Amino acid sequence: MNAPAAPGALRGGRDHPSLPALEVHPLGPGFGAQVRGLDLREPPTPELVATIETLMATHKVIVLPDQAIDDDQQMRFSAAIGPLEPTPAVVHKERHRLKHTEMVDISNLEVDGTIKAADDRRRMFDLGNRLWHTDSSFKATPAKYSLLHARVIPPAGGETDFADMTAAWDALPAGLQATLRPLVCDHSIMFSRALMGFADFTPEEAAGFAPVPQRLVRRHPATRRENLYLASHIGGIHGWQRPEAMLLVRDLIEHATQREFIFRHSWAVHDLVIWDNRCTMHRGRPFEDKVHVRDMRRTAVQDVAPTLEQPH
Ligand code: OGA
Ligand code: MN
Repeated sequence: MNAPAAPGALRGGRDHPSLPALEVHPLGPGFGAQVRGLDLREPPTPELVATIETLMATHKVIVLPDQAIDDDQQMRFSAAIGPLEPTPAVVHKERHRLKHTEMVDISNLEVDGTIKAADDRRRMFDLGNRLWHTDSSFKATPAKYSLLHARVIPPAGGETDFADMTAAWDALPAGLQATLRPLVCDHSIMFSRALMGFADFTPEEAAGFAPVPQRLVRRHPATRRENLYLASHIGGIHGWQRPEAMLLVRDLIEHATQREFIFRHSWAVHDLVIWDNRCTMHRGRPFEDKVHVRDMRRTAVQDVAPTLEQPH
């Protein structure tokens, strides 16, 4: 496991002359850090992008408090980090509440700002975010980073949990690691929804959510460390009987989400959290979503290629 960076280890001024001094405070068990000292309302500079890459390679999840950015500023900052993911995975595509189609609406709101009905199909589909996952592993080229910004938060609950898939990998016995290393899984958002009993997809949606193959074990290009690449979106392992595959995946997710590998983020308004989807999992936590508003907006940047086309 990486040693957590000492508070204040990465500084503007001396190390990054064009950046203000950064304050970095580790949050979780060997991953996760709170970063103060950046203002994302300002146009992003190459130095800022390089700093974010360094912070992400070191901490995997960074929390930037007090970022009073609007949708345009979140889009501009995200696009500076990498190519934006073009299309959110949604049901009922025709109704988008937000200005930018690339911005994922992580809220419980209707287009008109009222709270979605309990039996709303989009609500039930979105509840799948409460299962452990990594973003867009069900797309041929998955997400690299996700950036989630808090606009309105509920009075209680609605936290987000994160799990460190490098530490989880390191803790596996060598024999099991050797078995897992060559495996390829099929991912589809329909598999995670089926776990909750949501299987109500139109033929058109089902065609759009056809399974894609991804490696079960990846190597992070910046740190060169191996990690598990797990998600509730997995529905099978190539060459394995399906029940055996699903039992293995369930065991691995249980293993990887033990207390020693996770931390919970309790949101404050204007927190921006950025996570590395290549080497972490996350899940949303329950709140009274039929009563209270939770309005979060997510952008994501794409990885460079499907995992099978990346060197291991
Ligand atoms: C996401 C996600 C969880 C949450 O934005 O990709 O899974 O807590 N969010 O809202
Ligand atoms: Mn997610």
